[in-house]
Amino acid sequence: MQVNPIFLRSLNGHASKTASRVEQLCEHLRKDRYVRVALGFLERTGGDHMKDLSMGSCDKHRVGFMEGQRVVNFGSANFLGLDFDPRLQDAVHRGVEKWGVHQYSSRTFYSIEPYEEVESRLAAWLDVEDTLLFPCVTKLHAGALPALAGKGDVLAIDRFSHNSIWKASKIASANGAEVREFDANDPDALAKVCKRPKKANCIVVVDGVYSMTGETPRLGELDTAAKQHGALLYVDDAHGTGVVGPGGKGAAYEPIGSLRDILYVGSLSKGFSALGGFITCTPALKLILKLKSDSYIFSGPIPPPYLEVIKQVLDIVESPEHECLLGELRARVNHFTSGLRQKGVKFRGGIGPIVSIVVGDIEKTLEAGRRLFELGYYVQSVTYPAVPLNGGLLRVQINANHTWEAIEGLLEAIGNVSRCVCFVGLEGVA
Ligand SMILES: Cc1ncc(COP(=O)(O)O)c(C=O)c1O
Repeated sequence: MQVNPIFLRSLNGHASKTASRVEQLCEHLRKDRYVRVALGFLERTGGDHMKDLSMGSCDKHRVGFMEGQRVVNFGSANFLGLDFDPRLQDAVHRGVEKWGVHQYSSRTFYSIEPYEEVESRLAAWLDVEDTLLFPCVTKLHAGALPALAGKGDVLAIDRFSHNSIWKASKIASANGAEVREFDANDPDALAKVCKRPKKANCIVVVDGVYSMTGETPRLGELDTAAKQHGALLYVDDAHGTGVVGPGGKGAAYEPIGSLRDILYVGSLSKGFSALGGFITCTPALKLILKLKSDSYIFSGPIPPPYLEVIKQVLDIVESPEHECLLGELRARVNHFTSGLRQKGVKFRGGIGPIVSIVVGDIEKTLEAGRRLFELGYYVQSVTYPAVPLNGGLLRVQINANHTWEAIEGLLEAIGNVSRCVCFVGLEGVA
């Protein structure tokens, strides 16, 4: 795979005197530090960067063609493997027939009935009073965090939290909230940043499963520390919803004992194979969130056909079939992680479906990812700035519908690659 030279030239070129305003804008943007570094990275790594790939096909076991190469895709968050399930496909058709393909209006004006039905069913599943849907988790944070922490309030954020949380915190900060960072997964560090004037509120934000390593923070201890300081825990469990913990109720349910006294954010776009995000709440908080979340008020909701898909997945999640699917997924993750241990390959995560092999420097991580690709396995090569400079990772996402043969094949390929590319295995990456 090669980076298209015309693409690179167009990015690196200089605007001529007759340049259009768009070209002049590109010229201006090329001076931005981040863009300069990113362009330099693309140029330096040639085809090794494994980004912006094109996928031509994919079957129900995640075998398909990427950039013309036949690969098994280990880079999908469809953890329960329900995306090709005929019941979900029928659900989309049902939704299209009943509601058409459009999303109608901002829900601030009116909602078609299935939104509230899905919100109630999610609440019943997680044993909380209510939930509120957003079209994705990024929009949820962008609306809910500024709504929850206003002028003078404190947002205490775990350092390794997802980018969407940090971006949302900038909106909250612009509205007058004080944003404080604490060392990842460290209840003592959290206790220090919770101190605030009496009248101020404090929301503590943390991922349920760190998206890059697949590790879970000590949510029970973080919640205790937050509680001691009168602060409220807000857990973004995008990667845990439906797949981590007993009954797939997420990373927070077991260590905290209930989701009723925290704010739990779940994703419907990963384990659920659908689209959207939700936050747990009480009816009173739901009304306040509806009144204060700009991304709820000024933007559209989940497209209606996907509400039918979510309802169908909830039917599965509420049935014994969910345990079977979780069993299939866990068996594959356990098989994969014990295979890595046998080969002496250091990894992180594996509590949920994300297992990350820590390679180390950027070039080695990219080389390892490219070699695996050539051997027929796509995994995500994750490098700076998504992780620290020398904390490059091969991020593997196991799905319940990966064949055993594919998992064995990936293990063998990792063994081969680790013999030619030295995996350093540095610490400190989330
Ligand atoms: C922890 C976490 N939060 C939020 C998101 C963004 O989710 P969405 O695609 O629903 O906006 C992701 C995406 O992977 C994530 O890992």
